[in-house]
Amino acid sequence: MKKYLVIGNPIEHSLSPLIHNYWMEKYRLVDSVYEKRKVEEKDLKNIIEEVRKDKVVGVNVTVPFKKLIIPFLDELDSMAKETQSVNTLFKINNKIVGYNTDRAGFGDTIRGVYPRSNDPIMPLPLEHKCIFILGAGGVTASIISALKGEGANNIILSNRTKEKANELKKLFPEIEVLDWGKRPSICNVVINTTSVGLTKDEELKIDFSDYDKNFHKNILFYDLIYNPEETVFLKKARLRGNKIMNGKMMFLNQAKYAFNIWTNIEPEIDDEVIKLLD
Ligand code: ATR
Repeated sequence: MKKYLVIGNPIEHSLSPLIHNYWMEKYRLVDSVYEKRKVEEKDLKNIIEEVRKDKVVGVNVTVPFKKLIIPFLDELDSMAKETQSVNTLFKINNKIVGYNTDRAGFGDTIRGVYPRSNDPIMPLPLEHKCIFILGAGGVTASIISALKGEGANNIILSNRTKEKANELKKLFPEIEVLDWGKRPSICNVVINTTSVGLTKDEELKIDFSDYDKNFHKNILFYDLIYNPEETVFLKKARLRGNKIMNGKMMFLNQAKYAFNIWTNIEPEIDDEVIKLLD
């Protein structure tokens, strides 16, 4: 049996097993199984040993271990290096390599590389577009890197704990850091990378009511959260007449890249796999 894992803490709500087991069945990888495992920081070393000994073939890493796993790895791919964030592990030539597929997954989402759309929702190219990012957690560096990849050169970042925003500024010196609770006057894109909204009715205390539809119908509010499908952040934006998108396609796109690293198969993001996330 070829075993794959997603590790994190908490992990109960991870939908990665649903997606990967669906693809494993679809592509007839009958001897493969993907499970979730709740781990503590002290367990990371053992996980790597399991990969080294082929007890586990591939691993997805999620909150809060995307950075903490790095010291245990032999190599990083270029995106993991740039973002200091790893979400996928695989052994190649006896080396445990850490990959970052969040970055490519978000890049695909920005460019509209997902089913049923030839119309990228982002205002491409992103040069001179103002992009306001809320949060500086494990995935935010991947978001910044992907936006830069599409030409973004006006990124403003705000996080409740300012030191974490300043840490990201060390990786991406061109970004501007704003105190939590403040916001730029008007931006073209506002992205929530915080965990606020995961619990129903939970809401960021930042007022965007002046982003009203008469002038700002092209402004995009993007939330990385996809469950609930529409956070209060997105609902308010929709009611104001702004464009909205949740993190579902990014989640599927990052999973697609991880699956490809492990199996060499490029899985299709079909209607059925999309429905699994509803
Ligand atoms: P981690 O910080 O361990 O990487 P994460 O889930 O990737 O975890 O990130 C959580 C993000 O949501 C952080 O930006 C966090 O802000 P802090 O750095 O200040 O903790 C943000 N966040 C969580 N709860 C929040 C709240 N109630 N208000 C504002 N931001 C919040």
